[in-house]
Amino acid sequence: MPRDLSTPLVTGGAGFIGSALVRLLLARPEVERVVVLDKLTYAGSLTRLPENGKHPRLEFIHGDVTDRPLIAEILAKHPISGVFHLAAESHVDRSIENPDDFIATNITGTACLIEACRASGIPLLHCSTDEAYGSAEPPILFTESSPLRPSSPYAASKTSADLLCLAAHTTYGQDVVITRSSNNYGPRQHPEKLIPRMIHCALRDQPLPVYGNGLQVRDWMHADDHSAGLIAAFIRGKSGNVYNLGARCERTNLDLVRRILSILGKPESLIRHVTDRPGHDCRYAIDPTKAGHELGWTARVDFEQAFPETVRLLAADLA
Ligand SMILES: NC(=O)c1ccc[n+]([C@@H]2O[C@H](COP(=O)([O-])OP(=O)(O)OC[C@H]3O[C@@H](n4cnc5c(N)ncnc54)[C@H](O)[C@@H]3O)[C@@H](O)[C@H]2O)c1
Repeated sequence: MPRDLSTPLVTGGAGFIGSALVRLLLARPEVERVVVLDKLTYAGSLTRLPENGKHPRLEFIHGDVTDRPLIAEILAKHPISGVFHLAAESHVDRSIENPDDFIATNITGTACLIEACRASGIPLLHCSTDEAYGSAEPPILFTESSPLRPSSPYAASKTSADLLCLAAHTTYGQDVVITRSSNNYGPRQHPEKLIPRMIHCALRDQPLPVYGNGLQVRDWMHADDHSAGLIAAFIRGKSGNVYNLGARCERTNLDLVRRILSILGKPESLIRHVTDRPGHDCRYAIDPTKAGHELGWTARVDFEQAFPETVRLLAADLA
C-alpha cells in the first residue's frame, strides 16, 4: 500500500534540501497541506520557503526536533500523514570543531521523532547520507548492505540516527524508511558549503581555498532529484529498508572549482590548495540500483546543464 502523502510534516524545511522538498510537495495534487518544523539555526531561513513561509498551504512551526512536548503537540493538532525528517546539523567542518549540536540534533532529535511517530502510528522517512559508508576505494560502489564506516562526527551522528531508526523497526515493527543520498547541489544552499563558498570567493577575486590536492571525489546530485527520491521512498519504500539515492555523477572537488571559475569567467590562478580536512574521505560512491528497481526513481537532472544554471543562480544571490 502506498503511504499517504496528504499532510506531510517536513523537519528542517527551511534548509537547502528541505525547502526544495517542500516546493515539490506543494506542487503535487494529493498534498493538501505541508507542515514545516524548523529551529531556524544559522543554516535555516524562511526566505527559502515559498512566499517566505506564508504560502496558504504551508504551516511553519518554529521549534526544535529535540522538544518532545512540541512534537507531540504538532502530531496531535495536525492530521500529519507522515514525517520527512531532514532537520540536522549538516556541516562536516563544524562537527570537527564541536560535535555537541550534531549529537543533540542529529541523534537525540531523531530519537525524539522516532518515539513520537511510534506513539502516533505515523510513518517516518529519515533522510541520511552516503557518508555513513565512509570512503570508497575505486571502483567500489557501496550498496545498502555495505559496512557502515563514518569518518567525521557529522557522518557518525547521521549513522547513529540510521541505526536508531532500524532498531525501532526491528524491535517495535515501526514504519520507518531510510534514504542515503550523495552530495547535493542546487539553488539556496548556505554560503558555507563548497559550491557557494567558492562562488563567493571567485566573485570577489579572492583565493578559492581547496582542501589538499582537491582530488576528493563526490557523486553530485541536484536537490530536486534528491527531493523526488525522498518522496518516492516515502510513498513506496519498504518499511525497515534503506535506499541509496545517487546520481552516478562522480566529479573531483577540483573539477567542480575549475568549472565554477570558467562559468564566472575567472582565472584558475585564484585556486589555493590549503591543509586538508582531518579524516577527509577520498571518495563517496553509492549504487542507486535498489531505488531504481523498488521505487521507480532515478536521478534525472542533467549535471552538464544544471550545474552552470546553479552557479549563475547562486552567484546572483551572493553578489
Ligand atoms: N546537503 C547535502 O549534500 C546532503 C547530502 C546527503 C544528505 N543530506 C541530509 O539532508 C538533510 C538536509 O540537509 P541540508 O543540506 O538541507 O542542510 P541545511 O543545513 O541546509 O538545513 C538544515 C535545516 O535544519 C534546521 N535545523 C537544524 N537543527 C534543528 C533542530 N534541532 N530542530 C529543528 N530544525 C533544525 C536548520 O534550521 C535548517 O533549516 C540533512 O539531514 C542532511 O544530513 C544532505
